[in-house]
Amino acid sequence: MPEFFSRSHFEAAVATIREETQLQPRIGLILGSGLNPLADAVEDDVAIPYSAIPHFPIVTVEGHVGRLIVGWLEGQAVVVMQGRAHYYEGYSMAEVTFPVRVMQVLGIEILIVTNAAGGLNPEFHAGDVMLITDHINLIGMGGLNPLRGPNLAEFGPRFPDMSEAYDAQLRTLAKQIAVGANVPLREGVYVCLAGPSFETPADLRFLRLIGADAVGMSTVPEVIVARHGGTRVLGLSGISNVPPVEAIPSVETTHEEVLEAGRMLIPRLGTIIRGVLKAL
Ligand code: HPA
Repeated sequence: MPEFFSRSHFEAAVATIREETQLQPRIGLILGSGLNPLADAVEDDVAIPYSAIPHFPIVTVEGHVGRLIVGWLEGQAVVVMQGRAHYYEGYSMAEVTFPVRVMQVLGIEILIVTNAAGGLNPEFHAGDVMLITDHINLIGMGGLNPLRGPNLAEFGPRFPDMSEAYDAQLRTLAKQIAVGANVPLREGVYVCLAGPSFETPADLRFLRLIGADAVGMSTVPEVIVARHGGTRVLGLSGISNVPPVEAIPSVETTHEEVLEAGRMLIPRLGTIIRGVLKAL
């Protein structure tokens, strides 16, 4: 596995996908923990296991299926990632974000990213959906930026702007869809940590202080690569749990809880995503 990928690696993956389908997807969709069933609604689809695509990271976490679905959803040609790879699984940032480059070479214009996240904002409850307005790249500030390495100038500049990582027009659209469909929609800042251990109460108080509303272990690297390549981004977090900022005896955060809440969140997230696709 090379330390950094180049165009030829992405093109090898695209060639494999093109052998299965000639459909030209306009929109990419990454489905996070417990949210993989959202892909079941895709029509006329082909499903390609990640293991069959050169250089694609294979997912190892429960709740992530590990298939690329290409087909139609609400009248849009889509490419859907049923599960994603995370840094904590042992992948490099280049590997974690490899699929985003592949989707860009496939020709997507818009990337919709979803995740399961812990709620930090005291107003949030498990089961809420949060529109991501901005992120804190805490994992990247220490050096784990997916753009580290030779700049791929054919995708974007060495020092890409991140002043509006989450597209303002797409956010407005998502809010309109949520209001119209009577789905309560929160808004806030997502912070990405490396994981896999969950946060201590002191970690959580720190994350609140620095301005985060939700915490998770994904999304930010993918969004940075998407923006570097000029792809517009819509981000949605499913608040799967609200970890306690003061230790409460016998209250623990578990992956099972995250997956269980994911199932609850599927109808709400599905309504917003389908509404946005229909309107685009
Ligand atoms: N912390 C970090 N990541 C998460 C959480 C959490 O509480 N819930 C879902 N992903």
